[in-house]
Amino acid sequence: MIKKGIILAGGYGTRMSPLTKAVNKQLLPVYDKPLIYYPLSVLMLAGIKNILIIVNKGQLRQFRNLLQDGSRLGIKITYAEQSKPRGLPDAFVLGEKFIGKDNVALILGDNFFYGQSLTKKLKSCLSLKFGCKILVHPVSKPELYGVAITDKKNKILSIKEKPKNSKSNLAITGLYFFDNKVVNYSKTLRPSKRDELEIVDLLNIYKRKKKLSAEYLGRGGAWLDTGSLDDYYNTSIFVSTLENRQGFKIACLEEIAFKNSWINKKDIKAAISFYGNCVYSNYLKKLIK
Ligand code: TTP
Repeated sequence: MIKKGIILAGGYGTRMSPLTKAVNKQLLPVYDKPLIYYPLSVLMLAGIKNILIIVNKGQLRQFRNLLQDGSRLGIKITYAEQSKPRGLPDAFVLGEKFIGKDNVALILGDNFFYGQSLTKKLKSCLSLKFGCKILVHPVSKPELYGVAITDKKNKILSIKEKPKNSKSNLAITGLYFFDNKVVNYSKTLRPSKRDELEIVDLLNIYKRKKKLSAEYLGRGGAWLDTGSLDDYYNTSIFVSTLENRQGFKIACLEEIAFKNSWINKKDIKAAISFYGNCVYSNYLKKLIK
């Protein structure tokens, strides 16, 4: 059972510059809450309570001001700094001590997931004992993503980075589940031409050992990547549309913690005074009425 998760929340955020010149991308607002709330909510929905957040050097204080050590959410958050964006597999090199002897989930700090059976899917992925499982989802422009070609048993036959004429429209999302070997495998990787450790190289190690499989979010699920300006604003629109229509919040961390019985009404009241007089607090007030 996977009980630990890493959120990779550093990066240059070049495509979103100048917005990201002063503020880490993951702290920018997606409608009514910081971007980091969304990937953090995914791990919490899965039931993961022990979380490492990797941030850029010098940005620890900002994240700590927002999330502290996680205890106000009934979880444990620790932090690590990445001196420069050395690539996604660097998460497992930096996270070696945190991971210890356990298996681990990785979610990219700018990824957004939503959908009816999401929690059930996530929980089933946590049962991974050996190998690596990735979440794939159809996209209309596979040439912009890492793409997986799968067989009928969900085994991955090949993965291609930004293919020109791909037979598959299944993009590899930013949510991965790994066995403990990931730490040692990541250490063997060498930087690519763009001077980064590549996630595709890491996944290919698992593929060569026939230990790479896919999970599908399904058509009823949404996966949005907030890395480009347009995608970023579209995600905000998606969240505001759904929240205002349904009256439910997406990625309300306190709500998830409360429903998981990780925090109680007193903790929700403390959260309300932490946030102050705002729409988010009004939502929390309704929760404990
Ligand atoms: P990317 O989208 O690859 O990079 P980026 O966010 O820096 O954006 P840009 O390409 O516009 O410069 O990163 C995906 C996610 O992973 C994002 O949330 C940032 C994070 N990340 C790190 O924390 N460390 C890293 O070394 C890399 C490569 C990414």
